[in-house]
Amino acid sequence: MNSAPARVVAVLYTGPALRSGQVAIGAAPATAIRAAPCDGDVEADRDEWLAAGETRADCTYFAVFSLDRLVGHIFLHDRDDGRGETLIGYHLFRGVDRGRGTGTAALGLLRDWTLQHTSLERLVVITAETNLASRRAAEKAGFRFVGRPHEDPVGGRVYELRRNHAVD
Ligand SMILES: CC(C)(COP(=O)(O)OP(=O)(O)OC[C@H]1O[C@@H](n2cnc3c(N)ncnc32)[C@H](O)[C@@H]1OP(=O)(O)O)[C@@H](O)C(=O)NCCC(=O)NCCS
Repeated sequence: MNSAPARVVAVLYTGPALRSGQVAIGAAPATAIRAAPCDGDVEADRDEWLAAGETRADCTYFAVFSLDRLVGHIFLHDRDDGRGETLIGYHLFRGVDRGRGTGTAALGLLRDWTLQHTSLERLVVITAETNLASRRAAEKAGFRFVGRPHEDPVGGRVYELRRNHAVD
């Protein structure tokens, strides 16, 4: 194992980009994220989570790039270092950029960054039963279905990845 993980203090991530093939996650100015083309179905999510990334200490917010084009965001939120847990959210801003492997690659990059640079033990994705792309992206990134969220016991699904069970 590497040396002890550093405690994360960044909110809008400002470090070097992390890459997997043509996909990267990394820093971007808030102005560039707000100016990125975005379909109406996720526009409110883009604005809400960017604002959270700028202001909330329990968020760590990355831009997502495909071939160096800013196509979405992915972030830790409701991060609780005391409990060792975090939620993860993600959106690709345009439909044309979905279904090409970008979401899965971005989630894998954030998973790896989080395990390497924080001491968080449990990473959680909550998604809708009907959101097949999100469900599958979580599964492909190594998260496993563990039950239903209290807020949506019928239409929601909780996926988790535990540090001790993480595999490459
Ligand atoms: C969820 C999201 C980030 C997934 O990223 P993505 O790049 O589109 O997904 P990927 O291309 O990596 O695909 C992941 C898996 O889902 C499958 N998939 C993708 N789109 C799908 C769709 N519309 N219906 C069914 N399966 C789909 C892919 O085939 C792949 O599985 P496979 O390798 O077994 O074939 C992206 O679709 C998105 O931003 N959607 C809108 C916002 C959203 O729903 N965010 C999540 C809220 S919890």
